[in-house]
Amino acid sequence: MTTKNKVILITGSSRGLGKAIAILAYRQSYRVILHGSTDSDHLDALQKQLPGSMKVVFDVTDKQQTYEEIQKVLKQVGAIDVLVNNAGIILNKVKHIEDVDDEMAWQEWKVNVLGPIHCIQAVLPTMLTAGKGNVINMASIKAYPNFSTLSSFTYGHTKAAILQMTKALAKEYSPKGIRFNAIAPGYVITDMSKQWTNEAKKRINNGILLDRLANPDEIAPFVMFLASDDSAYITGSDFVIDGGYSIKGK
Ligand SMILES: NC(=O)c1ccc[n+]([C@@H]2O[C@H](COP(=O)([O-])OP(=O)(O)OC[C@H]3O[C@@H](n4cnc5c(N)ncnc54)[C@H](OP(=O)(O)O)[C@@H]3O)[C@@H](O)[C@H]2O)c1
Repeated sequence: MTTKNKVILITGSSRGLGKAIAILAYRQSYRVILHGSTDSDHLDALQKQLPGSMKVVFDVTDKQQTYEEIQKVLKQVGAIDVLVNNAGIILNKVKHIEDVDDEMAWQEWKVNVLGPIHCIQAVLPTMLTAGKGNVINMASIKAYPNFSTLSSFTYGHTKAAILQMTKALAKEYSPKGIRFNAIAPGYVITDMSKQWTNEAKKRINNGILLDRLANPDEIAPFVMFLASDDSAYITGSDFVIDGGYSIKGK
């Protein structure tokens, strides 16, 4: 199938990594469905920048709303070929275990883990009927025990869960034609990384072989490779894109 006929839903595509993926998918002639948690100005501006793209708004933590909004999209487009579970947050920044805020940890879990589950639940029946589908989950290098740090370890739990979920679902659904893979970026310049202190940025830069953070459009091409039929033999895998952080990292 050419990309022209393919429908791709990218959650959290109003900004950051999701936006870069949406722009590249659009350039590759996918039918792009943009998404944000609210009908924000930046989501609106992106839709205008990509004429013909569709926009859907839902809070991924709300199972009912996620299901209903995705059903509305499905009614219009028939099927979603590629789901990119990209929406995510980081809230807890701790220096000591005592600093962990339960509400923040729970919210991270709801958005980063239950959110993708809700989206998969909503798209899976039509993928199963079609006997084909492709789900790409956004993890992080923080998912791997070697790169976990106390400062963001509740976020790390959620991304480790994404890897686990990707593999569990790949085992079950790949024989039914639906591929599941995960991407684990290192440090990327987005609103999320703007929250880091200069001290943290310096420490991170020192740990990256390429000596700089990634731009979102340096991650997007790999996502779109996984979205394409060129990766037809890849499922149940996770891919680190980190400028060499994982072999130098501090
Ligand atoms: N930046 C990094 O260094 C980095 C590294 C590794 C992995 N990641 C992962 O990559 C993904 C994208 O990160 P980013 O840095 O691009 O983030 P970002 O710039 O902060 O954008 C987050 C996106 O998620 C959406 N979102 C947040 N909460 C939501 C909710 N409850 N329901 C629906 N949508 C929600 C936001 O929508 P609104 O615009 O409506 O708020 C926005 O589109 C995340 O999963 C993140 O964990 C990022």
